[in-house]
Amino acid sequence: MGYIETTKELYRDAAAEPMAGLCCTTSPVWKFPGLTIPSRMLEMNYGCGTTVHPRDLAGNPTVLYVGVGGGMELLQFAYFSRKRAGVIGIDPVKEMLEASAQNLSLAAKDNEWLSPDYVLLRNGDARYLPVEDNSVDVAAQNCLFNIFESADLRTALRDIHRVLKPRGKFVLSDPIAPVPLPDHLRKDERLRAMCLTGAQTYEKYVDLLVESGFGTIEIRARRPYRVLDPKRFGIENTILLESIEVAAVKEPPPADGACVFTGRMAVYFGDADQFDDEKGHVLPRDMPVSVCDKTARNLQALGRPDLIVTDSTYFYDGGGCC
Ligand SMILES: C[S@@+](CC[C@H](N)C(=O)[O-])C[C@H]1O[C@@H](n2cnc3c(N)ncnc32)[C@H](O)[C@@H]1O
Repeated sequence: MGYIETTKELYRDAAAEPMAGLCCTTSPVWKFPGLTIPSRMLEMNYGCGTTVHPRDLAGNPTVLYVGVGGGMELLQFAYFSRKRAGVIGIDPVKEMLEASAQNLSLAAKDNEWLSPDYVLLRNGDARYLPVEDNSVDVAAQNCLFNIFESADLRTALRDIHRVLKPRGKFVLSDPIAPVPLPDHLRKDERLRAMCLTGAQTYEKYVDLLVESGFGTIEIRARRPYRVLDPKRFGIENTILLESIEVAAVKEPPPADGACVFTGRMAVYFGDADQFDDEKGHVLPRDMPVSVCDKTARNLQALGRPDLIVTDSTYFYDGGGCC
């Protein structure tokens, strides 16, 4: 049948009845003043992190959301945008679009501020988005792209890049694996569709985003997600999957390569008022400054005793150089 069809079949079922244990975000579900999430929508939480970050929403951008699930993140984005078609949800599974619409109707009963036209639901595929070039400020996907095999994943990433405006942001969350997963798991269409065995390694995941033209990458969270154990998954060693949350900006990478922020900081504490590396990075004395991995490596290579560069926390929250 092919894994794309298997995936659609699984999500048809997951639309008919909430499927316990399918995905489910490991970051706490956002609670905002005046926002009530219906229980059925919560039960259809098929994400693995969050893509809703109020800091991305300054200027009230329209949000393109790919792979709608039960609609929880559509509702959370609509909470901020509160405008007609402020959130556009795309999914190729008719039943999932219907479930999302029903859950949003339920939500409208409990959330006075919600108008039915705030979210526009459309049939479409992440690999061939029915959206114009350079037209979107913020795009999001949660726990869908990990399902795609390499060629489809590259196509989907290219298409998201195509529809974003210059400097537009792609916010995403997926499972990642500590090692390449064995072939027998990668080829299992159902496990892949369940977001368990299509996961890339962290390095590959970031490389694919960079390859697709995103010049700045922010790693916002990494958390334990699921365990693949030898007994159930026919593998030699236990594998701990993580879920990752990332924002990728559509801007050309600098000549020396993309900027990947992983929560590293540089602190200069020497005799001068500041340290200037003459490559565009000025560190005021005693002030921690966020630096991308590339700059962190370059600063460390200087071997200065009056400069500390911290390790990656993978909880980058904005700010800094590059
Ligand atoms: C794991 S669920 C994630 C749902 C939602 N993002 C959430 O966080 O709850 C995957 C979603 O992607 C949809 N989907 C499956 N194949 C797709 C495709 N080729 N393009 C876009 N969406 C797809 C499914 O119908 C489902 O709604």
